[in-house]
Amino acid sequence: MKTHTLLMPLDMHLHLRDGVMLENVAPLTAYSFSGAIVMPNLVPPVSTLEDIQAYKKRIMAAVPNDFFEPYMTLFYKNYDKAFLESVAGELTAIKLYPAGITTNSEGGVSSFDIEEMRPTLEAMSALNIPLCVHGETDGFVMDREAEFMSIYELLASNFPDLKIIMEHITTKEAVDMLEKHDNLYATITVHHLLLTLDDVVGGMMMPHNFCKPIAKRPQDLDALLSIALEAHPKVMFGSDSAPHPQEKKESCGCAAGVFTAPIALQLLCEIFEQYNKLDNLQAFISDNAQNIYGICPEFKEVILEKRAFVIPEHYSNVVPMYAGQAINWAIASVD
Ligand code: DOR
Ligand code: ZN
Repeated sequence: MKTHTLLMPLDMHLHLRDGVMLENVAPLTAYSFSGAIVMPNLVPPVSTLEDIQAYKKRIMAAVPNDFFEPYMTLFYKNYDKAFLESVAGELTAIKLYPAGITTNSEGGVSSFDIEEMRPTLEAMSALNIPLCVHGETDGFVMDREAEFMSIYELLASNFPDLKIIMEHITTKEAVDMLEKHDNLYATITVHHLLLTLDDVVGGMMMPHNFCKPIAKRPQDLDALLSIALEAHPKVMFGSDSAPHPQEKKESCGCAAGVFTAPIALQLLCEIFEQYNKLDNLQAFISDNAQNIYGICPEFKEVILEKRAFVIPEHYSNVVPMYAGQAINWAIASVD
């Protein structure tokens, strides 16, 4: 049987939530990933030292014996330098949301006034704290990410020593932006390597494929595939796996978020094999992230095998992407 081995997989953008949901989903990621950047968009958001420490404890308590490192993040506000110095040792990055742009982002940034942000972003540069950005404006839904490119431009040129991660990119414009500034990096989800807008609303409406940023056009998908399959050194895997209870997805006012945490590695093997690029998957799934973030995860070896695997209909009360469908790769073992 054909197999493929991945070492220390990392998910550089993950929503773990809290409470019962955390207990249900954290073990699924901890099983096959060495670590994950954990998003801070709880209610209320993770925004103090105590929040970070207490959330990390809850994550560790939810994870069984598997080794798993939650890389903690803080919800961006215009923090002062003294505060950032006091939390720097406890976090891996700071996540910036434009206010109201997505789930639980109401307390985010409402004006990208560079001078107002300067003290915080200069302190982050000095402390080597990366800035992870949800890059969407409040414009027309298909243009939101492309419209945000001018803000990336402003951030990258004003703060050349700040590592800026363009999170979950979905457009050719973002792929092109990556080359324009040395300090810009990106994460790509697995669902954005598979879906276009047609898979969300082109036929029957598919709530489990609905997320923000929404999947775009075929040419955008091609641009994302081109840099992911080559494992462009500035690009890393970040699932943006965002669990919502089934009733919040299959309802009027469907919550944004695609749940892929337990099937991401299998789907990535399928995609990379399809394009004959399996040899590049290790860099996309771990090595690039280690280089970009300067992290060194503990050893974990995941062996996948090429055989039919039917994606479960549910993981507790969360419906994964492609629920009930057969894919070609399965996890054989984790050590
Ligand atoms: O689809 C999304 N879901 N996009 C985000 O930015 C947030 C996420 C969530 O937290 O549910
Ligand atoms: Zn996210």
